[in-house]
Amino acid sequence: MKKRIFTGLVLVCLSILPTMAQWGRPVDYSAGPGLKDAYKNYFTIGVAVNKTNISDPAQTAIIKKQFNSVTAENAWKPGEIHPKEGVWNFGLADSIANFCRENGIKMRGHCLCWHSQFADWMFTDKKGKPVKKEVFYERLREHIHTVVNRYKDVVYAWDVVNEAMADDGRPFEFVDGKMVPASPYRQSRHFKLCGDEFIAKAFEFAREADPTGVLIYNDYSCVDNGKRERIYTMVKKMKDAGVPIDGIGMQGHYNIYFPEEEQLEKAINRFKEIVNIIHITELDLRTNTESGGQLRFSRGEAKPQAPYIGTLQEDQYARLFKVFRKHADVIKNVTFWNLSDKDSWLGVNNHPLPFDENFKAKRSLQIIRDFDAAADKRVPKEDFVPNPMNQPGQEYPQVNSEGFARFRVEAPDAKSVIVSLGLGGRGGTVLRKDKDGVWVGTTEGPMDPGFHYYHLTIDGGVFNDPGTHNYFGSCRWESGIEIPAPDQDFYAWRKDIPHGNIQQVNFWSESTGKMQTANVYLPPCYGKLVKGKNGKLEQTRYPVLYLQHGWGENETSWPVQGKAGIIMDNLIADGKIKPFIVVMAYGLTNDFKFGTIGKFTAEEFEKLLIDELIPVVEKQFLTKEGKWNRALAGLSMGGMETKLITLRRPEVFGYWGLLSGGQYAPDEIKDPKIVKYIFEGCGDKENPDGINKSVESLKAAGYNAEGLISEGTAHEFLTWRRCLYQMAQSLFK
Ligand code: G3I
Repeated sequence: MKKRIFTGLVLVCLSILPTMAQWGRPVDYSAGPGLKDAYKNYFTIGVAVNKTNISDPAQTAIIKKQFNSVTAENAWKPGEIHPKEGVWNFGLADSIANFCRENGIKMRGHCLCWHSQFADWMFTDKKGKPVKKEVFYERLREHIHTVVNRYKDVVYAWDVVNEAMADDGRPFEFVDGKMVPASPYRQSRHFKLCGDEFIAKAFEFAREADPTGVLIYNDYSCVDNGKRERIYTMVKKMKDAGVPIDGIGMQGHYNIYFPEEEQLEKAINRFKEIVNIIHITELDLRTNTESGGQLRFSRGEAKPQAPYIGTLQEDQYARLFKVFRKHADVIKNVTFWNLSDKDSWLGVNNHPLPFDENFKAKRSLQIIRDFDAAADKRVPKEDFVPNPMNQPGQEYPQVNSEGFARFRVEAPDAKSVIVSLGLGGRGGTVLRKDKDGVWVGTTEGPMDPGFHYYHLTIDGGVFNDPGTHNYFGSCRWESGIEIPAPDQDFYAWRKDIPHGNIQQVNFWSESTGKMQTANVYLPPCYGKLVKGKNGKLEQTRYPVLYLQHGWGENETSWPVQGKAGIIMDNLIADGKIKPFIVVMAYGLTNDFKFGTIGKFTAEEFEKLLIDELIPVVEKQFLTKEGKWNRALAGLSMGGMETKLITLRRPEVFGYWGLLSGGQYAPDEIKDPKIVKYIFEGCGDKENPDGINKSVESLKAAGYNAEGLISEGTAHEFLTWRRCLYQMAQSLFK
């Protein structure tokens, strides 16, 4: 029995798993198909590898599962593979090629001609004197032919020329002491010796050696306005001159703040005008504001990464891959530059990749993999209206008729603003700063109907949205938003019916040594004198439902975000129930530490509820006494408490309700006469099978049990509002 209750508790916890992940329970984000399979209808997914990556079994397993394209990070570069004239260093280069041949993985050849890690001996003769460009070209041609012929069987694309264009930010330069517009070309030894002709030569040599391979011009910071145009102009000029440039490689050394989709799309659309093949050749997202392939960069500090930085990285990966999918007509490959943070050229403290320094998949891998293709094309209906939960006069947040939520936050100097509300498993909605320095953003998809807590994270600091009222959840006063629901009338305030009221009751609790508070709903007719059976005018007495909130909430949660009073008023007005009192007290849930679920007994709350609160309620209000006039129900952790207390103290409550709070099993209760009615409910995004099976087995064992599966909701308040609405109609019958 103890084991089953514990299992029930864990099951409830699992329904709030996202929080569990936060509480250190490792989640294997690599479970499921590999990236290459998830993107088989879009483009190949690659990775740049080093020696260890292709020899360590754990790492080769990741490569084989996730990737169908491999690039040698350094081994194929001229300076590494051909360090001296006539000297070839094929060791690691061959190993990588053979690893790919043996595992049926195609390669991107990186790279044949580059200003860095180059075979600098090609520029000088044996005496060190600079050679003529014709000599340089012969040597370059022999180099390219040797490398290409050695590997073209396993290579589908070559980065023929890498990083030949000048970076932004230096519009002018001094030539012979005069300030002249800066050359669009990187002032490399190649360029100084040959001008841009070396680019044409390199491509011609590569095409000679590999008549079918895709020949790519590769560079970084291609989204920078100036560099984009310089690359465009150079490639167009070359192609117009018949140089066999098939495609452009956008390296993609970006960061968690940059680039924005619009800027990335602008570069892709520009290059689409001249090539029909684009590769994202060296993708990584460093967790600072730097970008580009230059070797001057901050290596970051060896400190734990703040969770919000992880959310920003996940969001940026999601946004970039959405753009890549949109342009899959030209984007034929996306390659991550290194396998894990441990291998990254940027150093582990920049955390730039979907696999961490222990080769464990991060949530960003799941987010990149588990995209919703339908959502890619989804555009919210522009019928947004201010949210009913907003503070007076606040236009934002807004919701539309489909359930999308839109946020607007003024934080002109902030680097990032994240709304904790968003599509499941996504860590929230990352806003973008518009031209007026205001942060705006819309959820990527419709939110579940009903009420949602949320907060803002601005550069790591947690704040409430000044646009909404505050609601107690997650052990703090959070912002809240209400998403329209198809059946929202049952909790809508109706002006044409009598309304009850909710009284706050403060009482001394000896067991906790402090004042405790409960909110008590009294039906509209409460206290009115009615003719009793004995014909005398008397005040009616009412049964009582003790209704408990979940972890992180308090006695205000059911009355306010639960709309318990309004639901009761509507049920009474519609004659669906006989009036009863609802007591909503603080359930002592918030000192609970996740990870100690096995030790959770609810004994403290049992003492407060039965020995202190019930006596206060039955003394202070017109209550009917006795077990058959008391019900106990709770949501989430309040449900755990209900189950533990009703099974330990069956003599106190005659009606039991678990709302996303686990299930009862007949042999835990042992006697149907102990309880008149059991209610179990949850959202269809939680554990509906568990509820349905449990209710069936209780009914089969002779219990009056009823279940409810809330459509389209998860572990959230609309589930519990619907449960209250349903359960209330069977209480005290
Ligand atoms: O091979 C020597 C080794 O003999 C020596 O013991 C060791 C000691 O420093 O250095 C080794 O060379 C290093 C080489 O990587 C191989 O590991 C160089 O110092 C180091 O600078 C070089 O860094 C590579 C860098 O290109 C060179 O520019 C990075 O690993 C590699 O990720 C990076 O990749 C470039 C792409 O090719 C082009 N786009 C930008 C990207 C990042 O810079």
